[in-house]
Amino acid sequence: MNVAGLSAFYHEAACCLLRDGRLVAAAEEERFTRVKHDPRLPVHAFRFCLEASGIGIHELDAIAYYESPVKKLARQLWTGPPAGVAPGMPWLDALRPEREIREVLGWDGPLLTFEHHLSHAASAFYYSGFDEAAVLTVDGVGEWATTSYGRGQGDRLTIFEEVEFPHSLGLLYSTITGYLGFRVNDGEYKVMGLAPYGRPTYVDQMRVLLHSGPGGQYRLDLAYFDFLRGSRMHSERLAELLGGPVRAGESEITQRHQDIARSLQVVLEETLLEKARYLHQRAPSSNLCLAGGVALNCVANGRVLREGPFERLFVQPAAGDAGGALGAAALAHAQLAGARPQRERLRHVYLGPRYEPGEIALLLEALGVPATDYQASEAALLEAVVDRLAAGQVIGWFHGAMEFGPRALGGRSILADPRDPGMRERLNRLVKKREAFRPFAPSVLAEQAAAHFDLDHASEFMLETCAVRSPLDLPAITHVDGSARPQTVDAAAAPRYAALIRAFAARTGCPLLVNTSFNVRGEPIVCAPLDALVTLAESDIDCLVLEDFVVDRAALPEALLGLLRYWNGLYNTRGERAISSTVYTFL
Ligand SMILES: [Fe+2]
Repeated sequence: MNVAGLSAFYHEAACCLLRDGRLVAAAEEERFTRVKHDPRLPVHAFRFCLEASGIGIHELDAIAYYESPVKKLARQLWTGPPAGVAPGMPWLDALRPEREIREVLGWDGPLLTFEHHLSHAASAFYYSGFDEAAVLTVDGVGEWATTSYGRGQGDRLTIFEEVEFPHSLGLLYSTITGYLGFRVNDGEYKVMGLAPYGRPTYVDQMRVLLHSGPGGQYRLDLAYFDFLRGSRMHSERLAELLGGPVRAGESEITQRHQDIARSLQVVLEETLLEKARYLHQRAPSSNLCLAGGVALNCVANGRVLREGPFERLFVQPAAGDAGGALGAAALAHAQLAGARPQRERLRHVYLGPRYEPGEIALLLEALGVPATDYQASEAALLEAVVDRLAAGQVIGWFHGAMEFGPRALGGRSILADPRDPGMRERLNRLVKKREAFRPFAPSVLAEQAAAHFDLDHASEFMLETCAVRSPLDLPAITHVDGSARPQTVDAAAAPRYAALIRAFAARTGCPLLVNTSFNVRGEPIVCAPLDALVTLAESDIDCLVLEDFVVDRAALPEALLGLLRYWNGLYNTRGERAISSTVYTFL
């Protein structure tokens, strides 16, 4: 049985494909269109999933869609048109998902829709490997639900309580994200990264905004929010409550901003802990599954596991709306086959496009890129990369299938030496072109993780933070509060990446690397080899490893780098990124 899952028309659109319940392909649309968080119908991702699975569209048994457009319509009608919609302009179109799936994708078979939070819940439980678990989903908003409490048992998954819009932990976090001068639905990571620099001096104000209620319920004080009718998410009263105006984007970040970020994070963590304890009472289990955009808050996840009532945690690696595609496909499979799609835990997310060395050789030759060919020896390739890492170079690492979800996990990563005290500043300023405060995460060999971190279990997807307990000095990956967000690398899931870290450890005694996503600020993670070359040109990466080929930046003709930058600039100003900037919505 073949089922495709789709999420679209809100946050990041994505497609996945299940063959007899096995997840064989998944990708976000943004990676193909190069438009970050692209919410449009995932035409390219759909085509990729079919090609990667080796089937045609008529071999699909069903397409599953990740939310109910009709139920969402009721909430949109209640909210009213978003700011900027001229009177008389159409702004509601509940038929659009089905119409586009039929007309654009050309699908005339069964189309099954599942509710947004049930899709999130399924995306976690059915891939967790747990036979039974409590399930918590938290995001901005789906149709009406913003938080859901459920239980998975064997093949069955049920949701028994929801918190409804406009009361939303995700929208609270996004509102403060916007207030702190970061982009809503994009800058939430930055607020989480900023929080450890601050003190929790605004906790009382946060508790004015958010009131915990009985059971799983909580409420926002809507006097402080304007997302129901305004063009921004906070109201003037929120600025009064927090003692100052909105921070202008790119302006200086003050201690006050850091204190607000810290206070928000504290209140989020405490609320999630309280609600996790409630969930454990209602659905007693040792296992917790988490999904929804708020489940990408790895600091909160780590705390819920350490201090909460559950012993084991599975966080869906694509916890945001892209992962809804996985959940919808799993629910469709369960409905059609009468059984959950898979019983074993999701081991990796290398589910996107991969490129053969032959294709890469053709591209390098066509562009006249000087490269060293290591097709004859992987060991020689790894030694060449270790030479460069040990010399302090920053490596663009492109290998195997692209990761699904927001984290680069050694398929499309930028790598560096975590012991280098200047590396964090250099990566932020010259490579990622982003704010100096943002920390980097490490990849560590799974068998060595306990020697360097306060971590007693695998953390393959970088979705929880823990304390650094390393005998090594690791300034590039240790946050100001002594924490890190490690990826444990397992040789069975990522053999070449694990071999690289092992080779680095053999040379230096350090079984860790800095691993950050292979992109520059504002762009999606690279997908194809040409994207990697463009990113090399746009950043200060020293060396690019494209599968078996090593490209040293110093050997590249300046004219070629200039051409790649020129092409990318055109894409920014006249290409799809410019054209599609208007398709972004937050509700
Ligand atoms: Fe969601």
